[in-house]
Amino acid sequence: MNVSSPSMEKRGSLVCVGTGMRLGGQITPIAQSYIENSDVVLAAVSNTLARKWLQGLAREYVCLTQHYDLTKEEGKTRRDTYRAMTADIMGQVRAGKAVCAAFYGHPGIFACVAHLAIEAARKEGYEAHMEPGVSALDCLVADLGIDPGAYGLQSMETTQYMIHQRPLDTSSLLVLWQPGVAGDLSLKRFDTVPARLQILVDKLARHYPLDHEVILYEAATRPFEATRIDRMALRDLPAAEVKPATTLVISPAQEPVGDEETIGLLDALALA
Ligand SMILES: C[S@@+](CC[C@H](N)C(=O)[O-])C[C@H]1O[C@@H](n2cnc3c(N)ncnc32)[C@H](O)[C@@H]1O
Repeated sequence: MNVSSPSMEKRGSLVCVGTGMRLGGQITPIAQSYIENSDVVLAAVSNTLARKWLQGLAREYVCLTQHYDLTKEEGKTRRDTYRAMTADIMGQVRAGKAVCAAFYGHPGIFACVAHLAIEAARKEGYEAHMEPGVSALDCLVADLGIDPGAYGLQSMETTQYMIHQRPLDTSSLLVLWQPGVAGDLSLKRFDTVPARLQILVDKLARHYPLDHEVILYEAATRPFEATRIDRMALRDLPAAEVKPATTLVISPAQEPVGDEETIGLLDALALA
């Protein structure tokens, strides 16, 4: 048990960094410096090349991927996986080490472990912070040439969209993350099936015509790998290959409708 008062500085510390999407090329100098200089680096990187690269940089490397196997156990879900990863990170922090937890992309975007670990570390009085990284969304903006500032951006997790009554603004860009596990309520699967994607299409069809263009996007993550930009009609989505790394992009379906009342108020101010 740690008996020091929460106000006293403890030696352990935590930084959560992002490695970017493209191996070795999109990491920020500050994130790389933390990876190289921390006592230990913990990461859940399944890509062998990326893991080897991190191992080569880190003083000590701890792999967290085995915790995905927890989902195979009765009654356990991805939430247990994330808790176990957080516990491993916190174990190293409590041991008094300067700890770096590395995540691909941005460590705080659809990466709950970084948020959980920082919250837990701060609660126990340890210094903890996050360094941003280049996310799939950043790559998407660059590769698709879409400026989220032009018409706005709605971004949410696919299953969250499916199971909640979220109002959609079809005049803005819609980015749905994790369509590769669309409709999985068990939180145990790492894939989806056409029947679940059909339910997604049927729900989206309340707002978009079935011939509306959607894009299946996968940023290149290794040198010489091609970026996937597959454009198709909404109705064809269930037959398409949707992978764990796919992000679904739906372009605006209409121009924004003017708010004449507010325009009138602003005009009146301008005249005053
Ligand atoms: C757990 S989230 C991780 C996001 C990551 N932290 C980031 O900053 O982009 C996984 C989801 O991110 C998106 N994603 C992951 N890799 C991708 C890639 N290479 N291209 C496009 N989207 C990707 C997909 O929507 C995927 O289901």
